[in-house]
Amino acid sequence: MLVAHTRAMTTPRFVQLHREDSAALRLELAQGLLGEPASVSPKFLYDALGSRLFDAITELPEYYPTRVERALFTRHAGTMAAIAGRGRTLIDLGAGNCEKAARLFDVLAPLRYVAVDISVDYLRESLASLQRQYPGIEMVGVGADFSAALTLPPEAGRGERLLFYPGSSIGNFTPIDALRFLRQVRAVAGPGGALLIGVDLVKPKPILELAYDDPLKVTAAFNLNLLRRLNAMLGCDARIEDFEHVALFNEPESRIEMHLQARRALTLRWVGGERALAAGERIHTENSYKYTVDGFDRLLRDSGFARTTHWIDDEQGFAVFLATA
Ligand SMILES: C[S@@+](CC[C@H](N)C(=O)[O-])C[C@H]1O[C@@H](n2cnc3c(N)ncnc32)[C@H](O)[C@@H]1O
Repeated sequence: MLVAHTRAMTTPRFVQLHREDSAALRLELAQGLLGEPASVSPKFLYDALGSRLFDAITELPEYYPTRVERALFTRHAGTMAAIAGRGRTLIDLGAGNCEKAARLFDVLAPLRYVAVDISVDYLRESLASLQRQYPGIEMVGVGADFSAALTLPPEAGRGERLLFYPGSSIGNFTPIDALRFLRQVRAVAGPGGALLIGVDLVKPKPILELAYDDPLKVTAAFNLNLLRRLNAMLGCDARIEDFEHVALFNEPESRIEMHLQARRALTLRWVGGERALAAGERIHTENSYKYTVDGFDRLLRDSGFARTTHWIDDEQGFAVFLATA
């Protein structure tokens, strides 16, 4: 006689694909600081504290993307699931606290949940707590830096895949890098795969700049935390009080830029290098590109997705796209 067993899962599996302390990451940081202008990739904004500060940002009234995107998912989840299909492997890129995916579990009924993030300690914590809430869903955590290449371990499984990339994180890539990344997403989705992605839209400059420079200065703390990371990873001697947070909308490039601006002339020194900054000189720390609906639709098609559907909020500020292969 065959007996069916439903195994309750209490601990998610975890696969670590990148090393935070690698020489390659230190070299990337040093090269950025020595560039003209000086820059640091936004991926370094996220350590355990950075991830918590980002979560606090999402609670701010000025930071509309999380609130508006959540409302779009709540309102249209049924239609999204009807198009994307239930019972897939749900692959969450830059999962953070995994909350947005978890809200879709009931309607998507994923066979397996794969959460990928560079902020490894925070991901482990978030996923462990989620697994306790959903013991019936197989969960796999993947610690990875997907900025250079998007690869998944065999533990991600082979079933039909729905990739999930919310939060308008695609805006952190330049448009050409976004195309390169989405082509990799298309390849990882495989035949019959799909992508559910949130995209922030172009809107008036004051709304955008307030969202990235809130009066409570939570976003400033998030940006300044990067200096702690420089000190920890590179052995740098940056002092937080020597810098201020700057956020501005660069209209010709259609992107919010975040910078750390030197309050006085200073020299940053680290093991093997140094960088002098004049008073007012900036380290460029993040871009967040804002799209039009047509522009993003074109990008998805250029990336190899055949069919796209989208939903926009009443104020036309944020869009969720579902693209199928
Ligand atoms: C803007 S937050 C979005 C978090 C969450 N998905 C949401 O929508 O609220 C970006 C997330 O992507 C992760 N991330 C940033 N760069 C990454 C990279 N190069 N590789 C993997 N994860 C990355 C961060 O750690 C963070 O959790």
